[in-house]
Amino acid sequence: MISEKLLKELNGQITAELWASNLYLSMSYYMEHQGYSGFAQWLKVQSEEEREHAYDFANYILSRGCEVKIDKIDVVPQGWGTPLELFEHVYQHECHISKLINKLMTSAKEEKDYATESFLWKYVIEQREEEENTSGVVDKLKKADKGGLLFIDAQLGRRED
Ligand SMILES: [Fe+2]
Ligand SMILES: [Fe+2]
Repeated sequence: MISEKLLKELNGQITAELWASNLYLSMSYYMEHQGYSGFAQWLKVQSEEEREHAYDFANYILSRGCEVKIDKIDVVPQGWGTPLELFEHVYQHECHISKLINKLMTSAKEEKDYATESFLWKYVIEQREEEENTSGVVDKLKKADKGGLLFIDAQLGRRED
């Protein structure tokens, strides 16, 4: 069994992942409206990925014989400025998610819940990759002129999963 405290935190992560999914979907439509269909595509796939994370946490909770709780998902912000400003927010949000995963890991360790600890390891790796990828986009956007911006848009638009 998962402890009540840890179960609450794991269910909380479902809400956080769903919120992130809505955040990136909202950003995707914003970019589409600005004429950046490549960034929009990348963000839409990113949104789907966060939804998959929510499913994965829910399935893990079920696999331990516990109840899944989908809580209220708060409204997400709107209006993101330039692609650079938007991707700076994406990077910051991924850093925030990393902190949540680290907090979960700390709780799992405190509770000596090794099954949950091993489940969480892939998210420690995932978040390191997410931070690397999104800060990489920010770095490229910082260097880009108008032509470069369109090139990065086209490049990110190739993302399929
Ligand atoms: Fe996620
Ligand atoms: Fe993410």
